[in-house]
Amino acid sequence: VLCWFYIFPVYRLPRDKDIVEEVLRQGEAWQKNQTGIDHYRKLLTECCEPRKMFAVTKENSPMGKVLWYDGEFYHSRTVNNETYPLFVQENPLQLPLKKCAVVGNGGILRNSKCGRDIDQADFVLRCNLPPLSKDYVEDVGTKTHMVTANPSIVEKRFQNLLWSRKAFVDSMKVYGSSYIYMPAFSMKPGTDPSLRAYYALADTSSNLTMLFANPEFLRSVGKFWKGRGVHAKRLSTGLFLVSLALGLCEEVTAYGFWPFSVGLDEQPVSHHYYDNILPYKWFHAMPEEFVQLWQLHKSGTLRMRVGCCP
Ligand code: CDP
Repeated sequence: VLCWFYIFPVYRLPRDKDIVEEVLRQGEAWQKNQTGIDHYRKLLTECCEPRKMFAVTKENSPMGKVLWYDGEFYHSRTVNNETYPLFVQENPLQLPLKKCAVVGNGGILRNSKCGRDIDQADFVLRCNLPPLSKDYVEDVGTKTHMVTANPSIVEKRFQNLLWSRKAFVDSMKVYGSSYIYMPAFSMKPGTDPSLRAYYALADTSSNLTMLFANPEFLRSVGKFWKGRGVHAKRLSTGLFLVSLALGLCEEVTAYGFWPFSVGLDEQPVSHHYYDNILPYKWFHAMPEEFVQLWQLHKSGTLRMRVGCCP
């Protein structure tokens, strides 16, 4: 038995209840730790070069470059005449970004009144084209500078853009003139919907700028967290964005990260702030990720908002 333990050390994740209790004990007390922030930015720069690599650019992906899909085994796409013109020249962001708000989609945002706080950030990052309608403004704000879009959303919500390009373009208007960040080269079936989304926006002179997530960056961030005990098949979108923000921003606050069904007040919490559709089990390891984020909160490296905003 000892031997077995030695080969496969048992990794025990605290129970959800223990995590909730620990957060309650700690409260939202937070003290910024500049050394911690600098240290983390350095670690992320060394592993993943977010400034240079987070998006596919003409600079990091010239013609002929082989892009290896990060979510598939041994699949690649070579940059050619068809794809190269769709890439931005280089990282388009004015760096460093100052105060960043990363907004996850957790139900904990409901009635949080965090909208104003979020909108006060210099750069707001959101996940998966979330709803920003009037009903939610007070809790999640209105501003967006970068929003991720999974190709599967384009497929399901917009019928793969085969006949509903207008509905797609119209529904993108709530994100103003932000960057739309799509993992076009993560899974093979995601490439075509992503390219179609690019053309739908370009053909209508939309204010949004498409950025394709660089699969090399996504892979290196995945490895970074694997080395820190996040064992999911794939990181959640939110953790990718937090990692990006830690690499690009001077200060990061995260909202809407709470993958538990009970809140700090022991009342039930829905999975999203807009619905209660649960994720496909075992694909992500959100509680595991939360433990990591909470460690960073405790060390003053980023701030987690898990309750109401003042
Ligand atoms: O695409 P994915 O299922 O990862 O994300 P989502 O459900 O659209 O939510 C966006 C992000 O918010 C997730 O990737 C998580 O990082 C975070 N989240 C959370 O921490 N707790 C929840 N209850 C829901 C989402």
